[in-house]
Amino acid sequence: MSVFRTARTSFILWFLLYVLVCECLPLSDSDTVMHGELHSPQYPEPYPPNALEQWDLTVPEGFQIRLTFTHLDIEASDGCYYDSLTVLHNGKLLWKFCGNENSGDGNHPGHQPILSPGNSLTLIFQSDDSNPERHQNVGFFAHFQAIDVDECSAPETGNGPLCSQICLNTLGSYLCACHHGYELRSDKSTCVLTCGDGIFDEPEGHLSSPGYPNLSPYSLSCQYVISVKNGFTVSLNFSDIFHIESVDSENGPHCLHHWLQVTLPNKEPVKLCGKKSPGLIDTNSSSVTLEYHTDNEGMSKGWSLDYSTGRMKCPMPGSVTRGRVTPSMTEYFYRDHIYVRCDQGYKLMMNTQEIKTFSTVCQSNGQWHLPLPECHIIDCGDPEPLLNGGVTFLSGSQNQYLSLVQYHCNEPFYSLEGDQNVTFTCEADRQWRSNDLAVTKPTCLPVCGQPTQEIRDFLRIFGGKDAPQNTIPWQVLLTVGSGRGGGIIIADKWIMTAAHVLAHKGQQVSKDLVKMYVGGTEVGAMINSPLYAESVHVHPGYDSVDDLSYNNDIALIKLGNPLTFRAAVMPVCLPAKDSSYTTGKIGLVSGFGLVNDNGSRILTNRMKYVQLPLVDRKKCNDSFNLLKERKHKVPHLTNNMFCAGTPEGGKDACQGDSGSPFTLTENKQFWVAGIVSWGVDCGLAGAYGVYTKVVEYLDWINRTMQEN
Ligand SMILES: *[C@@H]1O[C@H](CO)[C@@H](O)[C@H](O)[C@H]1NC(C)=O
Ligand SMILES: *[C@@H]1O[C@H](CO)[C@@H](O)[C@H](O)[C@H]1NC(C)=O
Ligand SMILES: *[C@@H]1O[C@H](CO)[C@@H](O)[C@H](O)[C@H]1NC(C)=O
Ligand SMILES: *[C@@H]1O[C@H](CO)[C@@H](O)[C@H](O)[C@H]1NC(C)=O
Ligand SMILES: *[C@@H]1O[C@H](CO)[C@@H](O)[C@H](O)[C@H]1NC(C)=O
Ligand SMILES: *[C@@H]1O[C@H](CO)[C@@H](O)[C@H](O)[C@H]1NC(C)=O
Repeated sequence: MSVFRTARTSFILWFLLYVLVCECLPLSDSDTVMHGELHSPQYPEPYPPNALEQWDLTVPEGFQIRLTFTHLDIEASDGCYYDSLTVLHNGKLLWKFCGNENSGDGNHPGHQPILSPGNSLTLIFQSDDSNPERHQNVGFFAHFQAIDVDECSAPETGNGPLCSQICLNTLGSYLCACHHGYELRSDKSTCVLTCGDGIFDEPEGHLSSPGYPNLSPYSLSCQYVISVKNGFTVSLNFSDIFHIESVDSENGPHCLHHWLQVTLPNKEPVKLCGKKSPGLIDTNSSSVTLEYHTDNEGMSKGWSLDYSTGRMKCPMPGSVTRGRVTPSMTEYFYRDHIYVRCDQGYKLMMNTQEIKTFSTVCQSNGQWHLPLPECHIIDCGDPEPLLNGGVTFLSGSQNQYLSLVQYHCNEPFYSLEGDQNVTFTCEADRQWRSNDLAVTKPTCLPVCGQPTQEIRDFLRIFGGKDAPQNTIPWQVLLTVGSGRGGGIIIADKWIMTAAHVLAHKGQQVSKDLVKMYVGGTEVGAMINSPLYAESVHVHPGYDSVDDLSYNNDIALIKLGNPLTFRAAVMPVCLPAKDSSYTTGKIGLVSGFGLVNDNGSRILTNRMKYVQLPLVDRKKCNDSFNLLKERKHKVPHLTNNMFCAGTPEGGKDACQGDSGSPFTLTENKQFWVAGIVSWGVDCGLAGAYGVYTKVVEYLDWINRTMQEN
C-alpha cells in the first residue's frame, strides 16, 4: 500500500508542476507514474488468510486507467463471497473477481484489459480465514497504465457538443477548432464568423464579407487592411454579385445602415453600397483600408473581391522643347527611367546649371525623382578676334548654334591670307568652324607697296620735291645719336636700312641710340613719338673700316612693338626672287637728307622724293674710274650694288638719306629695289648714286626675320 501512496504523491506533485508550465498533459516521460503494477500479498507465494489490502489509483484528468491482469488465481466462490478482488470507481462497485482462468467457477476477468470509467480506481483484495483445506491460490498480478481519453468521441451531454465545429483529441484533453472563415470564441468551444482579420500584404488575394454570398451577420464591423510593398498599388476587382443594403435617394443609393467603406491614405473615405458591383477600382495606393459595417437589422448579401497589385504609376513626364524624352510610353511606372536628350545644338540645363546627361526615375511614391530639364541653345562664345581685322555676323545672333560669321581684314592695309572669304559657323560642339577645312584661323597679312595717295609729278630730292602725305608711307626717319638716316618699313616689326647707318668703323652702334619715326612727312610732327629698336642686325658681310668698302650695306632693325598699318604707315614690298633691274627703269628715291637750298646744303625737315633712272653698271663704273683718276676717294662698286641717277647731276640722294628706299613699281605695286648707300658728293654731274641691291639679300632678310 505504501508503494502506491508514494506513487500518487509524486504523481500529483508532477501534475501541479506541469500545470504551472503549460496546459497540455504529460507525455511518456512519466513512466514511473503513468503506469505501475500491483499484486496480492506474498505473490507469487499463495496469499495468507485474513488479508485486506486496498489500492487507490489516480491518473491525471483526461486519462483512464487500463488494468491488465497477467495472472489471477483467487479461491473461487459463488459471488466471490470468500476471497475477492473488488474494483470500485468513486465508491461504486464495478467488478468483483475470483477464480482462475481454468475454472468455471468464480468471476475471472480474462485476458482483456479492463478500463476505468474515470481517472481513478480503487482495488480491494481480501481473503477470509476459512481454511477447509490448505489451498494454494497465489492471488493476482496486474499492470496498470494511464491511457488517454478520446473526449471528442464521447457521447453528447445535455449541454450540446464539446466543440461547436471541430473537436481535436489531445493527450489527456481536447481542443476545439473552427472552419475557415470562423474563429473560436473565448469559451474555447463555440465558433463565430471572422471578419477582416489581419493585414493582407501578399501581392494578390481574395476577400469577401462573412458568409458571402449568404446574408451577412448583423452588427458587423469588419476591418480589412491591404498593405503591399511601397511602389506598388492595389486594384480591387469586385465580383458581380454585390449586395449591400442601401436607401435609395435622388442621388442614388445612400449608404445609411450597411456599407463598405474604402479609405485611401490622405483621401476622404468612400462608402459603397447598393446592388451594382463597383467592378474594378484602381486605387493608385499601396495601402487600402476596407471597413464592412452592418447594423442589427436589414439584409446584405455582402461582397467579394480579388485584389491585385501593379507598379505605382507616375504622372506623364511631359515634353521638352528642343529635346527628346525617351523611352516614350503611354504610362510610366515605379522604377521606370526616362532620359532627356537635347536636339543638336542645344544643351541640357537644370536650375541654370548645364548638365551633361539627364535621367530621372519613377519613385515608389509615384513621383519622378527629378523634374524635367530644359534644352537651351548652345553658343560658341565670341569668335576669336582677328588682329588687324574683324568679324561680322552673316546670320544668326549672339554666337548661338549655327550663327555664321565672316572674318575680314582692315582694308586696304591688310588682306586675308589666301585672299579668300572665310566664314565660320558655330557648330554643335561649340566650336567655330571654317567652311574651308584647311583654315583653322584666318590671318590678316599687311598689304605692301600700295599707298593710298599717288605722287603725280616726280622731282628730285637733292633738288627734289616735298612728298605729299601718305604717298611714301614706308619711309622711316632714323636717328642714331645726332646723325640722321632713313629706313624702310618692310614688315610690321621690321625696318630695313643701310649697314653704314648703324656701324661706324666696324663698330655696331648701341640699339639704344637708334630712334625711328614713321607716319609723317614733317620731322617736327614726328619727333616726339619715336619708335625703339628691340634688336639691330647688321649684315655680317658688311665691313667698312676704311669707309671705302660698302659691300653688303644692309641692316635690319626689329621694333619693340609691331606697327599697325594705316594710310600713313605701310610696308613696301620686297623684290621678287626673279626681279629685274633694267637699265633706264625709273625709280623713286625718298628721304629726309641734305637738300640744296638755294646753293647751300641743309638737312630737310620735310620728306623729299626724286625720280631717278637705273644706270648701266659699266657706265657707272667708268664714271667712278674717272673720278678716281681725279684723285677722288671712291669706294669699290660690287655686284651687290647698282647705280641710279642722271649724267647731268643735280638730282641725287645725299647724306641723311642713307638707308632710305629706292623703289620700282610693278603692276602699280612699289617694291624696294635698293637702299641708299653711297655716292661721291651729291648730285655731282657725271657721278651716280649707289644703292644696295636688295634682291641679293632676300635669303638673309628672310632668315634674319625668321630667326628673330
Ligand atoms: C475582374 O474579375 C473578373 C472576374 O471576376 C475578371 O473577368 C476580370 O478580368 C477581372 N478584371 C481585372 C482587371 O483583373
Ligand atoms: C498616384 O499617386 C501618387 C501619390 O501617391 C501621385 O503622386 C500620382 O500622381 C498618382 N498617379 C496618378 C496617375 O494618379
Ligand atoms: C567676300 O565677302 C564680301 C562680303 O561678304 C563680298 O562682298 C565679296 O564679294 C566676297 N568675295 C569673294 C571672293 O567671295
Ligand atoms: C639765292 O641766292 C642768291 C644769291 O646767292 C640770292 O640772290 C637769292 O635771293 C636767293 N634766293 C632765295 C630764294 O633765297
Ligand atoms: C670697274 O672698273 C675697274 C677698272 O677698270 C675694274 O677693275 C672693275 O672690275 C670694274 N667693276 C665692275 C663692277 O664693273
Ligand atoms: C623664307 O623662308 C621660308 C623657309 O625658311 C620660305 O618658306 C619662304 O618662302 C621664304 N620667303 C621668302 C620671301 O623667300
